[in-house]
Amino acid sequence: MTELIKTEIITVNPEAIDQTALARAATVLRRGGLVAFPTETVYGLGAVIYNRESVKKIFTVKGRPGDNPLIVHIYQWEQLMELAREVPETARILAQRFWPGPLTLVLPKKEAIPVEVSAGLPTVAVRLPAHPVAQELLRQTGQPVAAPSANTSGRPSPTRSSHVIADLDGKIELIIDAGPTGVGVESTVLDLTGPKLRILRPGGVTREMLEAVFGPELVEAPPQINCERPLAPGMKYRHYAPRAPLRLLTGDPELVRRFLLEGAAAARAQGKKIGIIAYDEDQDPAFAVTGVTFFSLGRRANPTEGAARLFHLLRLCDQAGVDKIYAVAPPRQGVGEAVFNRLYKAAGGKVEEIK
Ligand code: TXA
Ligand code: MG
Repeated sequence: MTELIKTEIITVNPEAIDQTALARAATVLRRGGLVAFPTETVYGLGAVIYNRESVKKIFTVKGRPGDNPLIVHIYQWEQLMELAREVPETARILAQRFWPGPLTLVLPKKEAIPVEVSAGLPTVAVRLPAHPVAQELLRQTGQPVAAPSANTSGRPSPTRSSHVIADLDGKIELIIDAGPTGVGVESTVLDLTGPKLRILRPGGVTREMLEAVFGPELVEAPPQINCERPLAPGMKYRHYAPRAPLRLLTGDPELVRRFLLEGAAAARAQGKKIGIIAYDEDQDPAFAVTGVTFFSLGRRANPTEGAARLFHLLRLCDQAGVDKIYAVAPPRQGVGEAVFNRLYKAAGGKVEEIK
């Protein structure tokens, strides 16, 4: 057990940034403290990469396995030269097109990066976030900041400061609250060390967006499901998981709806509470009758809505105290691929086709 400390919470308006508040947060980081801050994807838990003890503390407070490397956050392109041994032309093109934004580049690392950050790998993952609060904090800190998502390992990533507070209050020095994050799923992790661009984790920058720049032949997107070997080290763990068991369902929407209605009726007969995570179009008046709690991912045709809501909904399922969760699989296009991937992990690496 680590000793509890007093966590300070400050609120910053992203449209009118309080420089003084962020200067204080930057000081906490430079002195070796841990600071949770908003990015456009999810909240991150930051430590200056050269403060090895602080980086180690990230692993302790999150309960994160030591073999899972951290993403290094920068605010300007030039900092990449301090981190990466080689910066190929593709990195330049990607940065021009997608930075600042939800894209993480994996490159050969420089010696100076502590092993705690890269978990012993010869590479480093780097991203330049688009959130104005993150950018200003990084600028004032003046040094690269390692930051995983600011949640307890295994729990859904935090898209609001209340999620960070629920997981990390009393364990870190400071939380910067700037309201809900926008994208809602984490950055795309892209490996640049091979002959092709390899998507290790689908995220905010979609495969389609990468293919539009480089052509499909240059972008490698491993299937994500039934993969024997985890792509990014972090992808091998059960992740993003609410407390109740979650089943991920695919198939004809009509068949899935019938399955859900039957499941709901059966659960009711056993006195169990069911949560359903699905699209507006999947809503059925009969759900209310069976006492199901319906959590909407928005419209099926607009995957960004589901991405923005997903992690909050998973936490709401916990708060509602449901015994079982059924989730309807999103179409695997655009950012829907990342939403699918997170639900798949939350389901323990299973997807069931309803026939
Ligand atoms: O959007 C995001 O990326 C958020 C915000 C806070 O920036 N961060 C985030 O960090 O999601 P984390 O630690 O939750 O996930 C980082 C992922 C893990 O799956 C990890 O294994 C992978 O990136 N990763 C980090 N360094 C890597 C490397 N050198 N090679 C391959 N994968 C790496
Ligand atoms: Mg994470």
